[in-house]
Amino acid sequence: MVKPEPTRDQRLLIHNLVRRDPLTGLAEDVRKGLSAQPKRFLPKYFYDELGSQLFEAICLLPEYYLTRAENEILQRYSDEIAAAVKGQKTLLEMGSGSASKTRLLIEALLRSQDELLFMPVDISATALESSSRILLQSYPRLRIEAFAADYFAGLAELGKKPRRRTLALFLGSNISNFDTDEANRFLRAMRSVLHEGDALLLGADLKKDRTILEAAYNDALGVTSAFNLNVLARINRELGGTFDLHAFRHRAFYNEAAGRIEIYIESVVKQTVRISKLDLEVQFESGELIHTENSYKYDMAGIARLAEATGFSHSRTWFDSQERFSSNLLLAA
Ligand code: AVJ
Repeated sequence: MVKPEPTRDQRLLIHNLVRRDPLTGLAEDVRKGLSAQPKRFLPKYFYDELGSQLFEAICLLPEYYLTRAENEILQRYSDEIAAAVKGQKTLLEMGSGSASKTRLLIEALLRSQDELLFMPVDISATALESSSRILLQSYPRLRIEAFAADYFAGLAELGKKPRRRTLALFLGSNISNFDTDEANRFLRAMRSVLHEGDALLLGADLKKDRTILEAAYNDALGVTSAFNLNVLARINRELGGTFDLHAFRHRAFYNEAAGRIEIYIESVVKQTVRISKLDLEVQFESGELIHTENSYKYDMAGIARLAEATGFSHSRTWFDSQERFSSNLLLAA
């Protein structure tokens, strides 16, 4: 008798570890950020439903080369990457989102082994759910154990599970929102759940000519501007804010000394904004900036330093044909 294929539901397990009401987090952080000097927001608040869609649109922009460059690398080298870690593997991914680039590695792994467990960690339970169902539909030999959680909670939970040899992914230059301390902390947490012989594939955008970098964050269509200003629209929607989006504008430039793109929202006029659910009134000077994001750019020395400081050895780097982006294999030493 032929053994029936396990159904999609039997191949999917989602742990939901997102604890508190996400509105509480937003409210507290917006109050803190708008009371600080200089004013600031956290990049994680870009990604409500509209913001996530705007980010997907950014990835299609001609100026935003990062996604295409990483895709080119994974298209070309996924078999080599998979082979760089020996034996039967489990695939782990931090911040998988829509998981489109992950498919290339899933396919490479399924070419060299007959089944695969995929363990994604993502803050959005709905994104995990929909991407998991699509993946399971495409790959009958795939099983998924997903963690809806922030990175650290997801890693803590995942670390308790026995796993075979693991290839972990942190793609899309998601590392770029971290400053040096945060990047070190994140990689150390990652390292603590990996065993000797496991590996981390780290996607990192590279330092380069400021014209190219600044164009990627100041696209002609204005999608990045919309993505940035959407934070104000979100505060209006969710916290009863009175931000007039026409009275603010998007600013992004390369701070070469710090090796990062800095993104701000600038108040075009002197103005007062109220946020009813916070019972808060905020003054803005003309030209005053709200810092919304840093995007750190790397070079090979920076990657090697990060690896060495966190218990990895920097084993190999693959580049796209224009050498704009890097995919780095860090071995758990
Ligand atoms: C998702 C953090 C990699 O820094 O390039 C893109 C976010 N912000 N355009 C990046 C982003 C504006 C992106 N990361």
